Amino acid sequence: MQDLDVNGITDAVIEQMATTPDPRMREIMEAAVRHLHAFARDVNLTPDEWLKGIAFMTAVGQACTPYRQEFILLSDVLGLSRLVNVMHDTKGREATGTETSLLGPFFREDAPKVELGGSIARIAGGPEIQIFGQVTDTNGQGVPHAVIDVWQTDAEGQYDLQAHDPSVMDMRGQLRCDDAGRFHFRTVKPIGYSIPMDGPVGELVRQQHRHGFRPAHIHVLVAAPGHRELVTALYFGDDAHVDSDTVFGVSQSLVITARDDLPDAPVQGLPGIRYDFTLSRDADTEGGRVGSDPSRLMPAG
Ligand code: BEZ
Ligand code: FE
Repeated sequence: MQDLDVNGITDAVIEQMATTPDPRMREIMEAAVRHLHAFARDVNLTPDEWLKGIAFMTAVGQACTPYRQEFILLSDVLGLSRLVNVMHDTKGREATGTETSLLGPFFREDAPKVELGGSIARIAGGPEIQIFGQVTDTNGQGVPHAVIDVWQTDAEGQYDLQAHDPSVMDMRGQLRCDDAGRFHFRTVKPIGYSIPMDGPVGELVRQQHRHGFRPAHIHVLVAAPGHRELVTALYFGDDAHVDSDTVFGVSQSLVITARDDLPDAPVQGLPGIRYDFTLSRDADTEGGRVGSDPSRLMPAG
């Protein structure tokens, strides 16, 4: 009989779970119990505080719907999504590939196809910009006909799903690069926006006196056969929140500024951004990414 004091309880749980046949599950659950118990000892967690924690996690679960994944949002604001994605990326990504960023909850399949040079702003208005560049492999060779999905907020900081009837897609589009991997599209400059603050995660962020904002950005997903799918975003350097993103998506290499003086801009006189995307070879793609389509995480029915 083991003495279940503050340290003995950890060993007892791990011993009982040692029968888990799946080795990876055993490894993960052992480490989870060790770290959870160490956390409780570290902060000297009281029963009242733990009950509050349980009430919070219950509220997070209850806020989830087929269209809203509050647990992913929690993982985002705690920096866990960024950590898990960065570990995954550095595992199979050659150092020279474009850095990745969070997919976020607003990606939609089957965005309208946009011709090269066309605009993704079908309804929304605002200051127009152009974005152009080339998709290459890690040897600098253009990737012919790479497919690029882009999606962003409008000039009011809203995604189409939030701004109007969700069946109408706007401020998103799918482009097919030319035979040298080049692309070009026009859009409206997005502005930053607040993460959903009307649930328990928003309440947590408020209690921590954090602002809850993401800096203005354009999401990009680049896919081409034989290459690792790239999920990233471009962040506007002139946004006040670029250094304090609530969900930790920004990397320096993804910060951009629209300029009027780009000699190779397809439309002269329109502020432009040139950004080249580098795809890594198709390597270990198992596992997906935190923040993928939330409906995949919901129980059926
Ligand atoms: C987004 O960029 O769309 C996003 C990412 C994480 C949480 C909320 C929104
Ligand atoms: Fe976003």
